[in-house]
Amino acid sequence: MSYVIGIDVGTSGTKIVAINEEGKVVASVTKTYDLHSPKPGWAEQNPQDWKKAVFDGLSEICHKINGQEVRAIGLTGQMHGSVFLDEKGDVLYPAILWCDQRTAKQCEKINEIVGEKKLLEMVSNPALTGFTAPKILWLRDEVPEVYKKVKHVLLPKDYIRYELTGEFASDVADASGTLLFNVNKRCWHEELLSKLDIPVAWLPKVYEGTEVTGKIKSSVAEQLHLSPDVVVVAGGGDQAAGGVGCGVVRSGIVSASLGTSGVVFAFAEHVHTDPEGRVHTFCHSVPGAWHVMGVMLSAGGSLQWFRNKLCKEEMEKSKETGIDAYEYITRPAEKVPIGSNGLIFLPYLSGERTPHKDPYARGAFIGLSLMHGKAEMARAVLEGVAFGMRDSVEIMKGMGIPINEVRISGGGARSSLWRQIMADICKVPMVVINVDEGPAFGAGLLASIAAGMFSSLSEACESIIKELDRVEPNPQNSEEYEFWYQEYKSAYLSLAPAFKRLGKKLEG
Ligand code: XUL
Repeated sequence: MSYVIGIDVGTSGTKIVAINEEGKVVASVTKTYDLHSPKPGWAEQNPQDWKKAVFDGLSEICHKINGQEVRAIGLTGQMHGSVFLDEKGDVLYPAILWCDQRTAKQCEKINEIVGEKKLLEMVSNPALTGFTAPKILWLRDEVPEVYKKVKHVLLPKDYIRYELTGEFASDVADASGTLLFNVNKRCWHEELLSKLDIPVAWLPKVYEGTEVTGKIKSSVAEQLHLSPDVVVVAGGGDQAAGGVGCGVVRSGIVSASLGTSGVVFAFAEHVHTDPEGRVHTFCHSVPGAWHVMGVMLSAGGSLQWFRNKLCKEEMEKSKETGIDAYEYITRPAEKVPIGSNGLIFLPYLSGERTPHKDPYARGAFIGLSLMHGKAEMARAVLEGVAFGMRDSVEIMKGMGIPINEVRISGGGARSSLWRQIMADICKVPMVVINVDEGPAFGAGLLASIAAGMFSSLSEACESIIKELDRVEPNPQNSEEYEFWYQEYKSAYLSLAPAFKRLGKKLEG
């Protein structure tokens, strides 16, 4: 038997899967670690924690399957994070993560130096606080003594690649999220790098998602009981790899993931750019293709916040019965009518990217009255997140991207109520497929091409991915939601100036 391994260096933990020649996941391990927030809006992790998670996880996987039969490893992970290394390859500073909001000033500076319109032309995306380039400038502005020592800047999964292979390499999809990459030409944007005074030599060599970037180090092979011939393929950022894992490898198929963040992800044969930069345009992990995606920062994260802060009782009950606390929270919401009896939830708990590009946006319940209780609030959260996802769908439709069906995944997709609400609000069928292993599975599929298990990603997806469930939109519900969707949109516009004033006040 031959196997490939997919590794997803995520935000809450690292997930590792082993996949056999038929594309079946035969072993899976998850190792968690902490996220540190030393100041409001900051989000950091220690790259050594990722390394430990990966090495411990791989060692466990190699006890479940025979490590000598592993042919290739595919890497994926949280995008946009910055890992700063010195000339010896040692980590200089905590990794600043995708959800960190400290770089508003540096984004403004990039816009000043390059010009907003020109930047969109150069790298197909606007300057956003979570992207990598403003983080590099932040280090230069705020921690010059560390910046002086920087010799390499890597994305999270590429730091793991460096530890596994000794190579400085990345892939076109993840590189697209740095704001330093020519998405159109699929290479680093040297003119932009020079305008921002960032040395191109700091950045890794870039490959297509299925290409081999090197062999595992012999010391690592020995330590983990892996074959010394294991190759490591480029892989992709977690969204692109997740898209591959859901079969979004051709036009018309779109995926929506309801994890902590919420992402609507579409395949694109050409570079499509939203002139307002509300959705991201990145290279896909499918060689020669692109993808467009809308990113909500708090999707499943909104419901998780609601559970953690306001549903202690449901969590206690869950401990007693073993039934998921979300069941106790969403069941009563089924009985609440469309529009949550006049309650609207804005899901911008940690700022927003799509459609608002607003680090100051915040969450809100609008329309609260004495009649409202937890059931209405829970339903308003589900609806508010679905309205946010609809924003992405609308922008993509406006860009001429075909959306025939949405493959829905992530923790939130387990709720049949949420799937129906998503179908009704987005007016597209929501499909559940037979694999729900997330980006780690997609990374494994990228590795399977290098291992010769499948001749192409289309062939792999076609033979592995099957439809399990399909929720069609209910036209009457869709019509009723229209009023609430319009109110949702105007609520943000009315509140945005207040959100900004509150944010600035807190900044001091
Ligand atoms: C994508 C994004 C997140 C992170 C974390 O642009 O920011 O999906 O990759 O998972």
